[in-house]
This record gives sequence, C-alpha cells and structure tokens, in this order.
Amino acid sequence: MIAAILELPLWQAMRTMGMISFLAITAGVCLGIIYSMPVWSGAVKKKLYKIHSTLTIGGAAIGMLHGMISVIDTYTPFTWSEVLIPFTADYHPVLSGLGTLSGYLLLIVILTTDLRGKLGRKLWMTLHLLAYPAFIMSLVHGFFLGTDSSNPYIQWIYAVALSAVLLTTLVRATIRSLAAGKNEPPRAAVRKEGRAG
Ligand code: HEM
Repeated sequence: MIAAILELPLWQAMRTMGMISFLAITAGVCLGIIYSMPVWSGAVKKKLYKIHSTLTIGGAAIGMLHGMISVIDTYTPFTWSEVLIPFTADYHPVLSGLGTLSGYLLLIVILTTDLRGKLGRKLWMTLHLLAYPAFIMSLVHGFFLGTDSSNPYIQWIYAVALSAVLLTTLVRATIRSLAAGKNEPPRAAVRKEGRAG
C-alpha cells in the first residue's frame, strides 16, 4: 500500500496543488475585498461571502495538503518537524518557512471568522487582515521555490494575481473615500453649526 502511494506522481501532484492553492487564495482575498465595498445589496453580499469563504478555506486546505505531500514524497526532502516548524528546513529554510507560516496565518484567519461576536470587531479585523501577509508569503514562497516559475505563463499568473489584489484594494479605497465624502456635511454647514453651539 505504502509502496503504491510512493509510486504515484507525488511531486507533480504537490506542485499542482501548490498552484491551485495559491490561485484559490488569491481569488478568495480579492472577493473578500470586493465583498467589503459599500455598493452591494444584501443578496449579492451573501453570495460574495459564500464564494469568498469557500475559496479561502479550500485554498488553505489544498495548501496544507501540498505541504504534507512534501513529507511523503521522496523527491522533496522534508521531515514533519521541518514542515510544521517554520524556517527549520534544510532545503531553502526561509522560502519553505514562508509556505508554512502562510498556512498558519490562513488557519488563524479561518478559525477566527466564526468568533467575530466573541472577539469584538476590532480584534477580529486585525486578525482577518493577516490574510494579506499570508497572500504575500505564499506568493514569494511559490514564485521563488517553484520549479514552474521559469515558465513565462506561470510568471504571468503571479503578476496577474498580485495586480488583482492591488487593484481591488485600490478600487475599494477609492469607493470608500467617495462614499465618506458624500456622507460628510458641507464645510460651511459645519462652521455655522460650530458658531451656533
Ligand atoms: C498555504 C500554504 C502554501 C501555499 C499557498 C503554497 C504554494 C506553492 C506554490 C504556488 C508553489 C509553486 C509550485 C511550482 O511552480 O512548482 C509551491 C512550491 C513548493 N512548496 Fe508550497 N505552498 C504552501 C505551503 C508549503 C509548505 C508548508 C511546504 C513545506 C515546507 C511547501 C513546500 C514547497 C516546495 C518544496 C515547493 C517547490 C516544489 C518544486 O517545484 O519542486 N509549501 N508552493
């Protein structure tokens, strides 16, 4: 049985899973940003949230499986402790450690999602923002460690992924500042109110 598992193309499966995980996490992060734009109706928000959480949880799970396969696979030289304790691997300790750390950060983001009421919005939000370093860490890890990164198509995937996260962040910041401007009273009215009070 174990021999049969080791016969499987594990290294290829591991690399494919790394890429699928990265893409799902990227799409999940972008949808989280899009979800928080103050433009959606309740029904659209509900749908966006469902896809956002499915992609993020699915991506994190596949990323963890990818890390586990790196131990089982005989081509990649990892022990369980090297995979579980960041920066302790003999093979590219920093780049491998970023993969592990990214997995842990995603786990924190996912596990604290249902605790929003208990943690309070401020603490929950601070923890949720760990999704950004998790995304950057998985990007650096995948790009600099991945065999496929020499392929121009794969390089495009990383460039598009980074641009998508930056662009959605920028669009949301613009929409939020426009919305805040609309809700602010005109300056003259504020001055008059000040004098009257
Ligand atoms: C959520 C966490 C993770 C994500 C999103 C992720 C993502 C990726 C991606 C996109 C690649 C590039 C695949 C390729 O082009 O070949 C990759 C490669 C790699 N990852 Fe991860 N990874 C994660 C966690 C881990 C962990 C915990 C380890 C083990 C320490 C690990 C070990 C590796 C190795 C050794 C490679 C190079 C495979 C090769 O091409 O030879 N990764 N990862």
